[in-house]
Amino acid sequence: MNAILSTPRDPAVRSSPDAASPFALDLLAALGGQPKSIAPKYFYDEAGSRLFDQICDLPEYYPTRTELGILRRHAPEIAALMGPQAELVEFGAGSLTKVRLLLDAMQSPKAYLPIDISGDYLADSVRALQAQYPRLQVLPVVADYTRVFTLPTRQRQGHFEDSSVIESEAAHAQSMRVGFFPGSTIGNFTPAEAVDFFRMAAKVLQGGALLVGADLIKDPGILHAAYSDAAGVTAAFNLNLLSRANRELGANFDLAQFAHSAFYNAPLQRIEMHLMSRVRQQVALCGQSFSFEEGETLHTENSYKFTVDGLRALAMQAGFTPGPVWTDAQRLFSLHWLVAPM
Ligand code: AVJ
Repeated sequence: MNAILSTPRDPAVRSSPDAASPFALDLLAALGGQPKSIAPKYFYDEAGSRLFDQICDLPEYYPTRTELGILRRHAPEIAALMGPQAELVEFGAGSLTKVRLLLDAMQSPKAYLPIDISGDYLADSVRALQAQYPRLQVLPVVADYTRVFTLPTRQRQGHFEDSSVIESEAAHAQSMRVGFFPGSTIGNFTPAEAVDFFRMAAKVLQGGALLVGADLIKDPGILHAAYSDAAGVTAAFNLNLLSRANRELGANFDLAQFAHSAFYNAPLQRIEMHLMSRVRQQVALCGQSFSFEEGETLHTENSYKFTVDGLRALAMQAGFTPGPVWTDAQRLFSLHWLVAPM
């Protein structure tokens, strides 16, 4: 075995597993902060992703099934706006069910480009989809779409490598590039971050359109139930962040000493999820000790809720022109067609 390629045997590295991983660095910063707060992206390890799938099936968690209903009902109209041979770019490849609803309604979709930080997850979903749509170009991109990244160059119809060939108008006609950002994942961003996301999407989609799902402001009781379900799945999902730290980073969180807390912060128009320390306690992580006061929380997620006009106003700040909006009969959830600037 090549010594250069072998695993480092430095004992300091082994005694603090993954001490330099993004999760370790962000959790260290969170526990040292005041107030304590960490990004929700760390929920989604394998166990967390399974728990999230269970959340989507809960009777109280209306967003997934409501958005699926809207997509099912309006897919033909949405597909007509896309036109033939459109390219679908999904930000954060999540649910193949939603993508299939669009692909099945689209007229000869040309390509599907899912962008996701998890390469493993991408590989699995890509295999499944490619088998079902043999004529579709499936081009996964492993990237964090909240940072700078590049997409494979667009495939132009009738494009000739020889630039001396004068192409006809028809050969220049670009099929539409359509972004897809379902699930109200946009609600994890602050309004300022949402505008940053729209700016990034505008650059990627130039002249195309963005289809975005956004959860709507409603009776706080309905919101509360969706994030504090009776079966305790959302609590398990929230607490899994601490289990993950124990598993991956060798932390010593005692899960029984933390409580799931989710509430609607009406003036800020967002659900907040926290892990609340039931007692005054110390926690060890990567050789450092951190204290929690009784009742102190680690803020784990914001899930912003929108009005139809509020979501459109954020997109307009990034140069989008709002198009049709589809909602369910109870106005629980909204799906927006936003035309990207050229
Ligand atoms: C995946 C961010 C849309 O905010 O509703 C579900 C995550 N958190 N239950 C949401 C979540 C708790 C979900 N998003």
